[in-house]
Amino acid sequence: MTTEKPALYGGEPIRDEVLGYGGQSITDHEKDAVVEALEGDYITRGPTVEAFEDRVADLIGVDHAVATTSGTTALHLAGEAAGFGPGDEVITTPLTFVSTAHAATYTDATPVFADIDPHRRTIDPDAVRDRITEDTAGLVPMHYAGHPADIDELLEVADEHDLTVIWDACHAFGGTWRGEPIGAQRDMAVFSFHPVKNVTTGEGGMVVTDDDDLAERLRRLRSFDMNYDVDGHESEPWYQVTEGLGYNYNVTDLQAALGLAQLDRLEAFKDRRDEIIARYDEAFNEIDDLRTPPDPLESDPMYHLYAIEVDEEFGCDRAEFVDAMHAENVGVQVHYVPLHYHPFFQAEFGYERGDFPRTERVYDRLVSLPLFPAMSDDDVADVIDSIERLHRHLE
Ligand SMILES: Cc1ncc(COP(=O)(O)O)c(C=O)c1O
Repeated sequence: MTTEKPALYGGEPIRDEVLGYGGQSITDHEKDAVVEALEGDYITRGPTVEAFEDRVADLIGVDHAVATTSGTTALHLAGEAAGFGPGDEVITTPLTFVSTAHAATYTDATPVFADIDPHRRTIDPDAVRDRITEDTAGLVPMHYAGHPADIDELLEVADEHDLTVIWDACHAFGGTWRGEPIGAQRDMAVFSFHPVKNVTTGEGGMVVTDDDDLAERLRRLRSFDMNYDVDGHESEPWYQVTEGLGYNYNVTDLQAALGLAQLDRLEAFKDRRDEIIARYDEAFNEIDDLRTPPDPLESDPMYHLYAIEVDEEFGCDRAEFVDAMHAENVGVQVHYVPLHYHPFFQAEFGYERGDFPRTERVYDRLVSLPLFPAMSDDDVADVIDSIERLHRHLE
């Protein structure tokens, strides 16, 4: 029997064991698939990687999927394939993980931040319009928590100014927008398969596109920019040459086997995430001073995060809320420290705190609650009980 006092204020913790905020779900299905791959001829990039790419391309409904070692390297390749370079400006959101901006910074282009629409917590198309200059070459919107950015409006801005769009869909694998898979929108979309994401390959990422030339460029850059089919290769089969500065971002058949097995369970993952979200919504919509995630509007997202906003009226600030959850052994996290707070972006590009007020207002209140398919019903109840008990105490 737990006491009425939250653990932070002297009560017993709701749980004995720490519950993380996210994590993978691995069963014998995944283990068997990886062992089978391990016994195959390739443990580096081989036929299983190709099968994984084909399956993702099919699922998203695009012509090409190029697997890479992470969402970060996928963004790097996408930025290079887009042709971003020195002198170019690439507009993106400040409320994201640092890698989103690296689609620009890795190519020596300049990341230009534009403030968010606080409802979706994604980049505001009007703020994008305000940041366009003659040097703007591209847009990298991010689908925060899995909730799509304003795709229609952003594509309109891109059309008006002839911009290449790279959708950072690292949070959004498995969701749909107007009935169409998220990631199918032009020009490229990027996924991450990190263990906390909607499906995992351990580490891993992917770029998807309908554009043949971009896909060819992505594949070449992923593997040393090597031309394996150069003139002379037929008579001298060892003859292969690098034609530019490429990378080794190759993934292994082991990772792809894990990814394929996870895709078999995609629907079950989405159903479980939706179930947990429905229980959270039901409980937290009763608490006026917590803002639950936005209405999905025109989409059916596969939410990666359940991010709430803790208002002042709740009775404590965000830091105290996080401390209170940790005291209950409920893992929570904050996504994200805005990019313009990071010393790197400040030193390199002159950003300062105060530059993006809407992002800052949302950030000050954000907390991501545990959300992952392997959570039990008791885990979900513990999260709800922890927050309800804290709220009663502070009221
Ligand atoms: C929005 C976003 N973009 C990019 C990344 C980078 O993905 P990865 O960790 O696979 O490099 C992440 C991962 O944390 C992310 O959340």
